[in-house]
Amino acid sequence: MRLPCVLLLCLGAATVSAAFVLSPSHSWTKLILTHHWPKTFCDMERCNSTINSWTLHGLWPDKGQSCNSSWQFNSSLIEDIIPDMKKSWPNLLHPSSTAFWKYEWQKHGTCAAILEELNSQHKYFSKALELYHKMDLDSVLRKFNITPSPELYSFPAIESAIEDFYGVKPKIQCVHHDKGDEAQSLGQIEICFHSDFTLLDCDKETVGVGLRFGKGAARASEFRVCDHDAPVFYPPL
Ligand SMILES: *[C@@H]1O[C@H](CO)[C@@H](O)[C@H](O)[C@H]1NC(C)=O
Ligand SMILES: *[C@@H]1O[C@H](CO)[C@@H](O)[C@H](O)[C@H]1NC(C)=O
Ligand SMILES: *[C@@H]1O[C@H](CO)[C@@H](O)[C@H](O)[C@H]1NC(C)=O
Repeated sequence: MRLPCVLLLCLGAATVSAAFVLSPSHSWTKLILTHHWPKTFCDMERCNSTINSWTLHGLWPDKGQSCNSSWQFNSSLIEDIIPDMKKSWPNLLHPSSTAFWKYEWQKHGTCAAILEELNSQHKYFSKALELYHKMDLDSVLRKFNITPSPELYSFPAIESAIEDFYGVKPKIQCVHHDKGDEAQSLGQIEICFHSDFTLLDCDKETVGVGLRFGKGAARASEFRVCDHDAPVFYPPL
C-alpha cells in the first residue's frame, strides 16, 4: 500500500520505512509514464528551458520506492542511448548532469526491475524511451489542435483529446496559481501501462504528488491533479 503521506512528510517517511514496507515482493501492478512540460516546470523552478516539447519525467511503478540501494546507477551502462536521453529525458535544472537519471533509477528503476523486461539499467531506460516515442504526446495534442498558446483551454478538451486517442484515461496535473488567478498551467501528463506494456486507465483518485529530484528532494513539487472546471494555460516558450 502507498503510505498515506502528505507532501513534506512523504520522502522522509518513505526513506525510513522503505525496507519493511516494500519488501520482500514489490507488488506493483502498473507503470506510469510521466511527461512534463518544460516551460511549466521551469516557471515553477526558475530554470531556463528552450525545449518546446513534452519530455520524460519518469517511468514509475505504482508502488515501491528505492527498492535496492546497492544497485548503483552507472551512466556508462547506457552510453549508447545518452543522446536520446538528453533530448527526451533531459535534466531541466542541470542539463549536463546525470543526477536526474541516477535519481529516477534509484527511486523507481530499482523497483521496476522485478520485471524481466526492465531488470537492467539499459533495459529500464530504453523501455521508457521506447514508450515515450511510441506515445508521441506532442503529435497527439497537435492533432487535436492543442498547442502551446496564450489562449486558455478547457480542461475537458485536453483530457478528452488524450483519452480519445489512446483509449485510456490519462492523469493530468497542473500547477495551480495563487488565488485570484483562476487559470492553472498544464504541467504533467501521465499515461499508464499494465506490466505487459499495454495501456491502462490511470487511477485519477491517486493524489499526484511528483516529488522533486536532486538537491532539495524533500520538497514536493507543486503539480496537482488539474481542476476540472478551471481554464488551463498551456504556456508557450
Ligand atoms: C535564464 O535566462 C535569463 C535570460 O537569458 C538569465 O538572465 C538568467 O540568469 C538565466 N537563469 C538561469 C538560472 O540560468
Ligand atoms: C540489488 O542489486 C544488486 C546489485 O545489482 C544485486 O546484486 C542484488 O541481487 C539486488 N538485490 C535484489 C533483492 O534484487
Ligand atoms: C560502470 O559500468 C562499467 C561498464 O560495465 C564498468 O566498467 C564500471 O566499472 C562501472 N562503474 C562503477 C562505478 O561501477
